[in-house]
Amino acid sequence: MTELDPKNPSRNEEKVYHFASPISAEKLPQTKLDSQPRCHSYNDATSHTPMDSATIGHKRVKNEDNPLTFPSETLSSSGIQSTHILNSSKSEPISTDDDFYENFRAAHEAIDAGVHPILIPEGTSGSYFVRDVNGRYLAVFKPKDEEPFAPLNPKWPKFFQKMLCFCCFGRACLIPNNGYLSEAAASLVDEKLKLHIVPKTRVVKLASASFFYKKRFWTSYGGIEHWPKEGSYQLFVHGYEPASIVMARWEYDEKLLSDAEEISFRRQFQRMCVLDYVIRNTDRHKDNWLIKHVPGQTIRLAAIDNGLAFPVKHPECASRFRQFPFQWATLKWANENWDETLRKELLALFTPLFIHNLSSELRPLLRHDHLDRSLTSHQLKVLRGQIYNLVQALENDMTPAQMSNLTPINLHRTYRKLPVGDNIRENFTVRDMDYKGRVCC
Ligand SMILES: Nc1ncnc2c1ncn2[C@@H]1O[C@H](COP(=O)(O)OP(=O)(O)O)[C@@H](O)[C@H]1O
Ligand SMILES: [Mg+2]
Repeated sequence: MTELDPKNPSRNEEKVYHFASPISAEKLPQTKLDSQPRCHSYNDATSHTPMDSATIGHKRVKNEDNPLTFPSETLSSSGIQSTHILNSSKSEPISTDDDFYENFRAAHEAIDAGVHPILIPEGTSGSYFVRDVNGRYLAVFKPKDEEPFAPLNPKWPKFFQKMLCFCCFGRACLIPNNGYLSEAAASLVDEKLKLHIVPKTRVVKLASASFFYKKRFWTSYGGIEHWPKEGSYQLFVHGYEPASIVMARWEYDEKLLSDAEEISFRRQFQRMCVLDYVIRNTDRHKDNWLIKHVPGQTIRLAAIDNGLAFPVKHPECASRFRQFPFQWATLKWANENWDETLRKELLALFTPLFIHNLSSELRPLLRHDHLDRSLTSHQLKVLRGQIYNLVQALENDMTPAQMSNLTPINLHRTYRKLPVGDNIRENFTVRDMDYKGRVCC
């Protein structure tokens, strides 16, 4: 395992990079092609790979140079530069990059050994618990083609909605079937803003007999081929329960949550408000965030299911009847003042250069699935508008609930190559929303 230097994050970026690159080729277990194939690497001659090359960090790497390309790292535009664990003294991130690589390798081993992911009965998408050889949960994999309105979605309610209620199909403000990119992009934003509440998520390719395939091909050597599916791969967090369950318990017995735990919880809750506000999440109900609470020992929050975020328009100006308010705004912690440390950290972070860099890192990830530059550009204008409002809220001591009521805006850049100085208004211009062309849903 690479040794990381907590005092020098930039040096570590390099180490993480060099650590990741060779491991993909040398250490991942070989796919068993002599028996029935279960999991294909990218360059497997028989696999149906939609891409002929993949990105490692900022480089393009040909698959044939990388016999067992490591998909998590290769397809993630957020790259392998997350060093946030190294400069975090106050809150522990849910995982390090090393953990992620180990985790994904264990998933490959398990699939090769016949321990396949299992379909999660809850939720609307075809999501799978990926397991290790002992059956322990490793991650949640959500293939792109099994998203709620994608062609291979295995859940009946979505099928009926598609057939019977096609006018209320999906969300007008979101790019259809891009949930897996939104999941990975939310993880990137979480890392860049040092929020540490989203379990590490990357875009990977994975094949398993337990996924839904329209057609299955018999290979020349007699087995059935399951080609790799692209999707989001989010590390599983153990010991967590849906917020709805934990909060019901707290309501029943108020003494369960000590004062110190409540302060810690509020800090993490406000981080989730920041995340949701910035990415304009439209789906943060109480089953889409998890809490681990062992009274007197630990209290941690995990923001999962970030697939319905990064809209191309603010929901308010995309649909006439569906508004998608932030559900956390009604909770008591959203009406309390910002944690002062969080407030100061965020205000120091949001310089024009930071916003520029964040947009530049998100752009290739959000564009991974389509070539339409303008869609991504709209997504980023919404995101920057949300950051602008967040800064106003932090500067003017508005609570998260008050922030959620601010009029949404878009923020357009006015500089050419790089922003100059520390003033957001000198580098960006605020544009009001356009309410024309709203649809029903
Ligand atoms: N990273 C995770 N760690 C632990 N459990 C998870 C994780 N992601 C999802 N789950 C569990 O799986 C369930 C469904 O996941 P979710 O992401 O909400 O899928 P869907 O998009 O289908 O709603 C969640 O309610 C939660 O219990
Ligand atoms: Mg969900």
